[in-house]
Amino acid sequence: MPDTTASGAGIALENLSKLYPGNPTPAVDNVSMDIKPGETVILVGPSGCGKSTTLKMINRLIEPTSGRIMIGDEDVTGIDPVRLRRKVGYAIQSSGLFPHMTVAQNIALVPKMIGWPKARVSSRVEEMLDLVGLDPREFHGRYPRQLSGGQQQRVGVARALAADPPVLLMDEPFGAVDPITRDHLQDELIRLQHELRKTIVFVTHDFDEAIKLGDRIAVLRERSHIAQFDTPEAILTNPADDFVSGFVGAGAALKRLNLTRVRDVGVVDFPTASMDDPLQSIFDLLRSGATNEILLLDRHRRPYKWLRRGDLMRAKGSLARAGTLVHDTVTRDATLRDALEAVLTDNAGRVAVTGRRGEYIGVVDMETLMNNVHELLEEDRLDAVEHRHALEEQRARQTRLAQEGVDPAGGAHGVKA
Ligand SMILES: Nc1ncnc2c1ncn2[C@@H]1O[C@H](COP(=O)(O)OP(=O)(O)OP(=O)(O)O)[C@@H](O)[C@H]1O
Ligand SMILES: [Mg+2]
Repeated sequence: MPDTTASGAGIALENLSKLYPGNPTPAVDNVSMDIKPGETVILVGPSGCGKSTTLKMINRLIEPTSGRIMIGDEDVTGIDPVRLRRKVGYAIQSSGLFPHMTVAQNIALVPKMIGWPKARVSSRVEEMLDLVGLDPREFHGRYPRQLSGGQQQRVGVARALAADPPVLLMDEPFGAVDPITRDHLQDELIRLQHELRKTIVFVTHDFDEAIKLGDRIAVLRERSHIAQFDTPEAILTNPADDFVSGFVGAGAALKRLNLTRVRDVGVVDFPTASMDDPLQSIFDLLRSGATNEILLLDRHRRPYKWLRRGDLMRAKGSLARAGTLVHDTVTRDATLRDALEAVLTDNAGRVAVTGRRGEYIGVVDMETLMNNVHELLEEDRLDAVEHRHALEEQRARQTRLAQEGVDPAGGAHGVKA
């Protein structure tokens, strides 16, 4: 999240292009992008669209053909690459560790290169291993081949962070590990980022990873042309065009559930009784016909049991034996997805909503959730239609102006003879 306490530096790509020798079409064509200090920006796009090339130009592992890169206030396009390594950490898929160097030597690489004193380097190595959750005593002297994929990845991140650069570039760093380890490493990165507030540019072609990690996502098409650059929420609800929708994939509706909270869907009241109420009044409530189920609350008003009309009969009037214990609750801050999960695993299709101290607030049921999901999707659809109309109108206006010989940006071309 961008903020003023960020230790990261802003990055500006200005009309950046890369033409590889022997290839007439550029791999990256005139890309401009502003990244705020402390922000995590994800580059996603199909294979070969120029993500890695764009990323590597930021630390000049690849020299741009034209354009300029600013990090903070400094134009880094012309500076000494060693000085650039101080500003920019770099972690890649399958860690990219040097196999003939120990873990410690790998991590020490950049700090040594930029001339840190020996003692400072070795204490930094220990600190970094700690940071990424590896015991320095155990891992210090090992070689990369003696580590699991996930451990190698952690060392890769430790190495990238070792010289404390304000900018961190990551090229599919978790691409080579199994899904569970990947989840774990993603969580770790979120935690680290909370502490360190680096400016991170992260490449992936996994859109779920992008949603999870990104403050903003840049969806790229061929030659790194930006199809859309916005928050995960905006991209999910308002994909700029068919290319972006296609990339977001069929799960857009489900992914949207992660961005909506229970507090936004309207929690309904449910008939309740306290376990301290006289048994007779609970009986009367259930027999009154207004409801055939109540939620029994404990002395702290926390949901305790679901109680149906027949339950009390079967338990021969004993509250202790009657009803079904509440096994799951959600808070108002839970995502719609969490709520749906809870409702789907509940036999009766509802879940109790609780406050900060676990006290009863209300209930959401399947019907409410489904209605809300439908409404959300309908809103999104209308937004998208409106958005498309606005774009079409704008295009039509530009075409009209062009036909009339007026430059839409101002000034007239006049009619050529
Ligand atoms: N060293 C090179 N020489 C010539 N062409 C290259 C070179 N490196 C990459 N390319 C080409 O440039 C284009 C962009 O490559 P790049 O590696 O940036 O794509 P990418 O988006 O990272 O793809 P992936 O998702 O597969 O990693 C591709 O068409 C690729 O073939
Ligand atoms: Mg790549």
